[in-house]
Amino acid sequence: MTDGVLAGVGAPRSTAEPRSTAEPEGRSRSGFDPDVQWWRGAVIYQVYVRSFADGNGDGIGDLAGVRTRLQYLADLGVDAIWFTPWYVSPLADGGYDVADYRAIDPSFGSLDEAETLISEARNLGIGTIVDIVPNHVSDQHPWFQAALASKPGSPERARFWFHPGRGKDGDEMPNGWVSNFSGPAWTRTQNPDGTPGEWYLHLFSAHQPDLNWSHPDVRAEHEAVLRFWFDRGVAGVRIDSAMLLMKDPALPEIPAAPGPGEHPNTDRDELHEIYRRWRAVADSYSGARILVGELWLPDIERFAKYLRPDELHTAFNFDFLARPWDAASLKDSIDSTLAAHAPVGAPATWLLSNHDVTRPVTRYGQEDSSFAFATRRAGVPTDLELGRKRARAAALLCAALPGSLYIYQGEELGLDEVQDLPADQLQDPMYLRSGGTDPGRDGCRVPLPWAGSRPPFGFSPAGATGESWLRQPSRWAELTVEAQQRDPHSMLSLYRTMLRIRRSDPDLGDGQLQWLPSSDSVLAFARGERFICVTNLSRAPIELPAGCSVLLASSELTADLLPPDATAWLHPERLQTQDRTLRCPTEGGE
Ligand code: GLC
Ligand code: CA
Repeated sequence: MTDGVLAGVGAPRSTAEPRSTAEPEGRSRSGFDPDVQWWRGAVIYQVYVRSFADGNGDGIGDLAGVRTRLQYLADLGVDAIWFTPWYVSPLADGGYDVADYRAIDPSFGSLDEAETLISEARNLGIGTIVDIVPNHVSDQHPWFQAALASKPGSPERARFWFHPGRGKDGDEMPNGWVSNFSGPAWTRTQNPDGTPGEWYLHLFSAHQPDLNWSHPDVRAEHEAVLRFWFDRGVAGVRIDSAMLLMKDPALPEIPAAPGPGEHPNTDRDELHEIYRRWRAVADSYSGARILVGELWLPDIERFAKYLRPDELHTAFNFDFLARPWDAASLKDSIDSTLAAHAPVGAPATWLLSNHDVTRPVTRYGQEDSSFAFATRRAGVPTDLELGRKRARAAALLCAALPGSLYIYQGEELGLDEVQDLPADQLQDPMYLRSGGTDPGRDGCRVPLPWAGSRPPFGFSPAGATGESWLRQPSRWAELTVEAQQRDPHSMLSLYRTMLRIRRSDPDLGDGQLQWLPSSDSVLAFARGERFICVTNLSRAPIELPAGCSVLLASSELTADLLPPDATAWLHPERLQTQDRTLRCPTEGGE
């Protein structure tokens, strides 16, 4: 990278080396081990298969490509890989429209190859997490095709939400629900004779009809799908849109301010029973098989209910990435997250990005650095240099917090959101259904740059003629894995060192934190007695506590001061955290 401001992984008082990569006092975690509670402090890397690596040269990522890059992930230091849906799918929503939950999409590979991949990863100490999509199926799924071919009131239709329309001729939707991808949540069918028929519900695109989770077939089928993948050795499942499965059968309008559990299609109390059954399935297997919920819920107490000991193991903590780059707000998010998790005994999770949200380098380079779907917008002034600095600081902050850590592919390369993709390449239904007012999520799904100076940057094998399915920006020549591997100050080097320290330090990952006294715009906490994390969100450099050596810093220290928008990991050499002489930290020059 040429970006001077990013320089300085290491700090003057020590090098970027962790204090020890050996196993201190024999307490080090060993990475993925199905026989222990590996998931409580795990580092899980999200592979968006279409955009990770293309093995056969057609411009679309695939399992062959992933297999050639497994060593890269082992070297990065991850414990598990979560694969976004790899099943047979017309890809109307990037694979979240599944036509067959037991087969791999031919553009990605075959079931045999998936099994090989699972065992190759396991041999490298990496577990596999698959993505289960229970709320809806593809409109090409045999169940939905059978439902369309059957009459109103038929058993085939009972697995979905078919409903007659309102008004004269039934030409008004059954209710006014709006799709999560904007536009109506209902689409009208056609009868075999061409006349308009019933409507069906889809909380996402019209290609994703919602299943009726009160129907025993739906429950039995998904439990069988869980077993199908657990039988193939997967270490866990990520549950897509986990808060949406149950609906109020009366299909009422959505109240202006629904009370807890009163929303007609979100976070309904009946969901817990479903996840208790899933937990029983997972627990019937040897080794820890985990259930990870995708739960976008503003009410953190309600969120934590899903993490009771007989329900899900963990769930994505989206609150943190929805916060602005502000010390008080981030501290509040950390405290409320940890407080909500404590009573149920579940570890928190930390993430800065996934395939649905704006890349952190771009987000943190904007005035409003919080993420919300409703405020996703293109054309906002962005300072990528500032964004990259903050994304580095945020990475070290997250990786030091108690619990498990998710990394979305390309985050470790500091990729920015690609906001100028040609309109004819955009595929996200969020973009298409909003008539282009929402730029959609394609910009965070652009294929990874691996090597070389020109697109496709090694994403496809040498000699491949096809373009990658989304065009990579030429500026990514500086951000390829190859370029960053050579540069000790690169984002990739920062992530590698960060994960190496995290893995070798038994105080990191699962556990507790202890806040240290600091000024308001600084976050400082200890993990155990030998690790301190300090993030400077003020506008001035700050002093670090005396008697500490620097293990790792996200920006170069100047005259032993930690600059703004930076995080340092420290090792208190002489001091214990109980030692009240540790005052951490004060703004420089005071
Ligand atoms: C989840 C996925 C997202 C998908 C949606 C519908 O939010 O993360 O990518 O579009 O569910 O399945
Ligand atoms: Ca391919």
